[in-house]
Amino acid sequence: MKNDKKVVITYGTFDLFHKGHYNILKRAKDLGDYLIVGVTGENYDMERGKLSVRDSLAKRIENVSETGFADKIIVEEYLGQKIQDILQYHVDVLVVGSDWTGKFDHMRKYCEVVYLERTKDISSTQLRETAGDILSLGIVTDDILDDDMVLESKYVSGVHVEAAYSDNAELIAEFTEKFELDQGYTDYDAFLDKVDIVYVKCRKEKKYGLIKKALERDKIVMSSPITGRNEEEVTTLYQIAAEEKKMLIECVPTFYLQAFLQLLWNAKGNLIGDLLYIENEIRLGSLTGIRKEDLPAHLYFSILIAMKIIGADADFRLNRIEREGGDTFALLTGQNESGIYISKISDSKKASAGLTIRGTKGTIHVPDDWWNIGYFELHDAEQDTVKRYSCNFDGNGLRYVLVSVLDRVKMQHYTDLRLLKEESVGAIKEIERIMKDEK
Ligand code: CTP
Repeated sequence: MKNDKKVVITYGTFDLFHKGHYNILKRAKDLGDYLIVGVTGENYDMERGKLSVRDSLAKRIENVSETGFADKIIVEEYLGQKIQDILQYHVDVLVVGSDWTGKFDHMRKYCEVVYLERTKDISSTQLRETAGDILSLGIVTDDILDDDMVLESKYVSGVHVEAAYSDNAELIAEFTEKFELDQGYTDYDAFLDKVDIVYVKCRKEKKYGLIKKALERDKIVMSSPITGRNEEEVTTLYQIAAEEKKMLIECVPTFYLQAFLQLLWNAKGNLIGDLLYIENEIRLGSLTGIRKEDLPAHLYFSILIAMKIIGADADFRLNRIEREGGDTFALLTGQNESGIYISKISDSKKASAGLTIRGTKGTIHVPDDWWNIGYFELHDAEQDTVKRYSCNFDGNGLRYVLVSVLDRVKMQHYTDLRLLKEESVGAIKEIERIMKDEK
């Protein structure tokens, strides 16, 4: 039943609590008798693409509470919750900052909407950027079109792309200008002096030497997958990276996606019973066929997925067919005590490109483009039910790898837990064996 108190509600992340937050809470409270503050939950922020929130939810709630203005604090967990809160708490006024003017007018059906002027010259974003712990990132490239890290890093605060390196002077001049970077280098040592994190995305022949040197100079190294190298070299790189305060991350974005972690947990946590088989299709964008020299890169991803789901001790085999003018097709199979793995790698646009994990009690299914997983379904055969999981996925996934790297640096915990050395080295070893049989 509605009481006579005038109820006001307002929402925010309230990260790195500042004067602007204090002011809006104070003014919101002045508009009524009872103030409810909705603080955004961690998953909700991730889903909205707010990837760089520094304070934990507990800390942000504590800061709001300490102002003494909030009579009740709730957590905002999902899009659409506001309407439900307004009805449930019999809210009279919704207060929103002036940065959202007009955007909440549709809520006038439910209560009064008041936009309050923001406090000038302060925001959480600004504070995060002036906190003095921005890491500088440098890109090692040999392709003028390699814009993925430049674009993706814009969504992550705490890092800034400053420099680029290539041994090709003309290319690096063009690259630096195109992406408005501070400086381009052809001298690798001078480049390393300038940056904290190195992102190596160049031809496989040069990768080993460049990564090794950067690690030896105590840089954090992110690299596109280190395929096309032999087991010994990859082992050496990971050995150097295991030394104190060094870090090597192979960027396989799938492993950094919330939905993928959730899927692994469901598959291995006996929610679909004992595993029977895993089937997936990796569809390549091009129609040029799978060139033999590119095969290791595709196999690497596929084998890593198998290792994550059925374990590292599977015995893999490859079958391949090439038809002139037709589809090129490779079939990788693997088996161990945990189950059977079947992975189709094809360049056909017709391929369905899904992932299915079948167990004795149910099935997990990820639809098209499953490697960018943001959604999956779990069919429970015994109960005859379907559960759906969904998380946001934006860009090409690199931003999620970068967030994880920055978190590790912040916590001074330099081991990457998403792709283990044993998995990486194990997959390279399998590929070496498979490719030898191919000859
Ligand atoms: N707010 C304000 N004045 C500021 C900053 C924020 O009035 N200078 C208000 C916002 O309009 C919002 C509430 O405080 O109603 C919570 O905002 P939040 O998004 O958490 O803070 P920001 O500093 O804007 O955060 P960010 O920079 O991450 O967007």
